[in-house]
Amino acid sequence: MDSSEFLDFLTSRCSVREYGGTELSPREEEYILNCAVTAPSAGNLEAWDVVVVRIREQKEALSEAAFDQPHVAAAGSLFVACANYVRSMSRYGERGILYAVQDTTIACSYMMLAAHALRLHTCWVGAFDEDVVRDILHLPGHVRPMAILCVGRGSPPGSLTPRMASSEHVHEEFW
Ligand SMILES: Cc1cc2nc3c(=O)[nH]c(=O)nc-3n(C[C@H](O)[C@H](O)[C@H](O)COP(=O)(O)O)c2cc1C
Repeated sequence: MDSSEFLDFLTSRCSVREYGGTELSPREEEYILNCAVTAPSAGNLEAWDVVVVRIREQKEALSEAAFDQPHVAAAGSLFVACANYVRSMSRYGERGILYAVQDTTIACSYMMLAAHALRLHTCWVGAFDEDVVRDILHLPGHVRPMAILCVGRGSPPGSLTPRMASSEHVHEEFW
């Protein structure tokens, strides 16, 4: 893939919120997870974990926890990316909290792009009641759910979302 193909790959991804209900195959899930572990992480500690959810009742419960977002229930599989604080804090102390959040966000981004490479559709869901998600997934206290990544086969929206120009983000040398 050359650099312009890479940019096309990135710009062709969009959030999909309508899914047809087909499951992911074990190979597709494995590919997504194998891509996630290639992500960089602070001290190479990989301070993230993921709960893969396929069972309908679990997806429905998570949809409710996500303030009734229907795409959470409709996706083929959910990848709930969790920061593992203990893994990072054991080396980095308080700073490890920030590193675990970053590690998790990068790993989840890789999962999203891996799914896109498989021509699957995704939606990153960050709005949910954390305590309810903890209960549903039986999460231990040292991990924090950061994102529910919906993955499946769906219907992309008719148009891509607009973006700010990169120049609007950039400051040269000083803020
Ligand atoms: C941190 C974060 C939280 C998000 N939370 C939600 C969410 O709760 N529900 C949802 O439908 N989309 C959510 N999104 C998806 C964004 O709305 C979407 O990425 C953004 O509008 C850009 O559109 P695009 O992904 O189609 O390019 C979230 C994305 C991020 C990165």
